[in-house]
Amino acid sequence: MMKNLFVFCLICNGFILYSQNKMNHQIIPNPVSVKSAGGRLNLNDVKQIIIPEKNKGVKKIAEFYIRALNQSDIKIIETKSPHTSSKKSIILQLLRGENSSDYYTLNSSKNGIKITAYQERGLFYALQSLIQIIEKSEGQNNITNLSIPYINIEDDSRFKYRGLHLDVSRHFFPVSFIKNYIDMMAKYKYNYFHWHLTDDQGWRIEIKQFPELTQTGGYRKSTLIGHHSDSPAKYDSTEYGGYYTQDEIREVIIYAADRYIEIIPEIEMPGHSSAALAAYPIFGCTGGPYEVANTWGVFDDVFCTKDTTIWFLKEILKEVCDLFPGEYIHIGGDECPKERWKSCPNCQAIKRRRNIKTEEELQSYFISQIGIFLTSKGKKLIGWDEILEGGIPTNAIIMSWRGEEGGILAAKAKHQVIMTPGSHCYFDHYQSTYAKEPLAIGSYLPLERVYSYNPIPSVLTKQQSSYILGAQGNVWTEYMSDENKVFYMAYPRAIALAEVNWTEEKNKSYSDFIKRLHQHSKWFKENNISFSLSYLDLNYKTKNNNNHVELIINKPALDGSILLETIKDGDAKQEYTSEDTFILDKTLNCKAWYQLKDKTLSRPITIDFVSHLGAGKNITLINSPAEKYFQGGSSALLNGIQAPQNKYGGQEWIGMEGKNFEAIIDYKDTNAISTITFQFFNAPGSWIHLPSEVVISASSDGKNFEIIKQQNIETNNLKYIEPKILLDKKIIPQYLKILVKNHGEIEEHLPGAGHGSWLFIGEIKIE
Ligand code: ACM
Ligand code: ZN
Repeated sequence: MMKNLFVFCLICNGFILYSQNKMNHQIIPNPVSVKSAGGRLNLNDVKQIIIPEKNKGVKKIAEFYIRALNQSDIKIIETKSPHTSSKKSIILQLLRGENSSDYYTLNSSKNGIKITAYQERGLFYALQSLIQIIEKSEGQNNITNLSIPYINIEDDSRFKYRGLHLDVSRHFFPVSFIKNYIDMMAKYKYNYFHWHLTDDQGWRIEIKQFPELTQTGGYRKSTLIGHHSDSPAKYDSTEYGGYYTQDEIREVIIYAADRYIEIIPEIEMPGHSSAALAAYPIFGCTGGPYEVANTWGVFDDVFCTKDTTIWFLKEILKEVCDLFPGEYIHIGGDECPKERWKSCPNCQAIKRRRNIKTEEELQSYFISQIGIFLTSKGKKLIGWDEILEGGIPTNAIIMSWRGEEGGILAAKAKHQVIMTPGSHCYFDHYQSTYAKEPLAIGSYLPLERVYSYNPIPSVLTKQQSSYILGAQGNVWTEYMSDENKVFYMAYPRAIALAEVNWTEEKNKSYSDFIKRLHQHSKWFKENNISFSLSYLDLNYKTKNNNNHVELIINKPALDGSILLETIKDGDAKQEYTSEDTFILDKTLNCKAWYQLKDKTLSRPITIDFVSHLGAGKNITLINSPAEKYFQGGSSALLNGIQAPQNKYGGQEWIGMEGKNFEAIIDYKDTNAISTITFQFFNAPGSWIHLPSEVVISASSDGKNFEIIKQQNIETNNLKYIEPKILLDKKIIPQYLKILVKNHGEIEEHLPGAGHGSWLFIGEIKIE
């Protein structure tokens, strides 16, 4: 559990970093311009904040600062026009003029600090920057000196939408935690909190007209233990749930607004609605009974498209619109199977009545009805990119999560877009390839990749790009049952995305970012807030080159060195090295760490290289893998390093979506081969299936291939298999072709029914 101490420190001590080194500044997100003048201002002498008179907003900002520094002896002085004063002061000045930007300036000199902005929030952002550069040192008589450099900052945001999301359905978090989450967002200049309040596993917002939504829909009988792909699945037997009352929600809205954060509530429809249907089964297609889900995934039972369901949802949204003052309402729209609609007389009657041809169009009709209603309430509808499928509902804002394609399509059609592609913005994915990383949903999203994100796709014209409002990080909590885990998964990735959203590309540099971030990490540690140091973990890449494997170890761009321990033929050796490329040619176990000057040590990576006849050979893929499951490149298949058996993310697995795997190995060796051993992952819950068949062919010219072995792969319940395929006779081919046949369309009764299967393949061991 988050310690109470944290809350105390967060509010009272503020963002105070201890920094000895002379870096320019450590502000995140990186401002447009920071100039340092040399010299320091002692803040212990600055005991007044001058603000414009009769301005409640600015007064609150000044009070926020006083609380953050725990300096209750600072006075707030209201004047008609805040100018300089004979005493050292902080002046908060609102500039005149029509300018709705986040712009601010901050200037510190021996006279004090002057902050200007066009909007109140600009003043707030300036203070967040200020708090980040305050240094604390021990002065005489045990007095703590607070000081900042003489500095000149000019700053503004790149995007007007800077979002962070939290799923409170899969796991529920109390108001106290939500406030902590918002505090952290405010530090990094986020301005939208997307609160995912309803889903299959729990309805979390009180709706006065329909109390069963929370009384019944807020609680599930048990919860999945372990990973969704584990077989057999295991469950606990503890009732789990909770919800926010409308009073609590109002309290959170005000708390967020005081930090210039708008809350976007998400009420999921038409899919992900098991919890609502468990409470009010008449709004489903079959009438139920339904249950609040105790496992993760996508469920066939969804809201019916009949008029009474639309009425029910509008009544709910009426209360939601009254509660949330912001401009946006998110209505979900993702992952809605259409199975029930196809056999529902009510849904089919709607189709006939409205001359609707497909279930996708029926979904579009459904969302449009909701959209019209929200417009009448003065709100704007946001939906996940699936709502594009049957035609874009008028005025809808698209949240592009299955990649950027939905967002690109929407921007071209002049719809506003929020980018949140899984490849860069899903903080529920693994952030490290470290073997003992806490359980996560899968995939791999390291900090550097988040940082590298540019929310404007290069295919858009300047005009089309103006529809991209910004990016959002998503924190789905299937595998985050406690508050520490949420922070561990979100931070520091949310800090990287904060800079993506705020800072222009030309002012971004990953190596500079992690230098600043490493200073921030100390504040997290001092305040006992979970934070992943995985950016210090070493990463490796392999390259197949002339029959050997090159191992390239990537170091963080910080001052430090690699500590390498190798065990080769039973001999252990440990050394510091500045090298980063090693040749793997003999079976070898290796462990590597990164050590910083301050003695912070990364967690070790282990690489077990097992030499075989294919290791280091070139391989050409005929079908492209899915980008996000191709992180190790094609050499991952023949680099002598086994893919992990317990999870399918990471650089050693290659994922094919709905496709066969087909590749040609440039063998050209004099050693005869007799067996080929494969690695396949099997997780039907995640739409991953074993292949149906492996076909191996050989060729002497790389063009004409002859099949030398064909073997069926039996379906089974194991999460992982390693089939060893014996060739009928030893051969010495020039080229080998490997065809691994995809399982094909997923069967009716299984998760993802009707979609193509995923096929995951690891090392191809040739002996
Ligand atoms: C989503 O991640 N299902 C929007
Ligand atoms: Zn129906």
